[in-house]
Amino acid sequence: MAKYLVTGAAGFIGRSIAAALLARGETVRGVDNFITGKRENLVGLEGMEFLEGDLADAAVCAEACAGVEIVFHEAALASVPRSVEDPVATNVACVDATLNLLVAARATGVRRVIYAGSSAAYGDAATLPKHEGMLPDPISPYAVAKLAGEHYLRSFTRVYGLETVVLRYFNVFGPYQDPMSHYSGVLAIFCRRMLAGEPVTIHGDGEQSRDFTYIENVVHGNLLAAAVPAEKVSGRTMNLATGSRATLNQTFAILRELTGYAGEPSYSTSRAGDIRDSLADIGVARKLLGYEPKVDFREGLRRTVEWYRTGTAGA
Ligand code: UD1
Repeated sequence: MAKYLVTGAAGFIGRSIAAALLARGETVRGVDNFITGKRENLVGLEGMEFLEGDLADAAVCAEACAGVEIVFHEAALASVPRSVEDPVATNVACVDATLNLLVAARATGVRRVIYAGSSAAYGDAATLPKHEGMLPDPISPYAVAKLAGEHYLRSFTRVYGLETVVLRYFNVFGPYQDPMSHYSGVLAIFCRRMLAGEPVTIHGDGEQSRDFTYIENVVHGNLLAAAVPAEKVSGRTMNLATGSRATLNQTFAILRELTGYAGEPSYSTSRAGDIRDSLADIGVARKLLGYEPKVDFREGLRRTVEWYRTGTAGA
């Protein structure tokens, strides 16, 4: 019987959390519907019990949660432009699935659910860094859906006493992030294309900035969120990021060095639903989780380029 459930276990973040749990010798169950998850991401996770299914189906949630103590809920359609094109699909995958999962978690006696929230909840607020005391102001349907999930978690803590923790991620990147879709994160796209010598496009002037967070930091934060006593973290929402930011132009320059890319980016119009700047205040996660980022942006980029180049990240 698995102690931990990871939803979205065939996706980038889910498979990374599952791998860390397995490396610690934990019993893990993973669930994924393969809409964006990849079967090849399960290679190396053979020790995990795997369930193929969609969390929009309540029966799948019940099966996934049975016997589990702690859930890492990473399953989502994690793309702003995808939600702009098809808001209903995003709502099903992010809101319906989260509510079904919470209902099943409660019914089966899960103790704690840790949720992949999104910094998209802050919208385009001019205040930087973004801190948890700010009023959410979601712009894209994706941001609305991820925020609705947060509210459901808090409600389940208040109403039913389920332990929940919301971690708001900020532009996570690293090995296993899918570079092939036009919905992919910008760093995955840039790494793959620059290594292949293919053209890259920057939407807007390239001066938009992000608190790009290397995956190892996110895994670390999640493991802490599972371990810290409920009195400290249950019902809480916190940023999980690095507390520093880079513009796309700066990022392109570092990647050019790391990949040996000879080309220049082309610039196109800004993308609908995009926010301009993103930077996290990580004070709450520091205080409540004892979280400290382990890998900085440049080192994370180095390992990521290495992974897209060779299939291993090194350390
Ligand atoms: C990302 C996450 C989202 C998360 C949010 C939190 C992904 C796919 N999305 O959204 O899940 O909630 O951070 O802040 O990881 N861009 C280019 N060229 C490209 C692709 C993108 O210039 O080829 C630009 C985009 O227009 C945007 C920036 O890069 O300005 C970042 O885009 P993207 O990686 O899609 O992430 P976010 O939209 O910030």
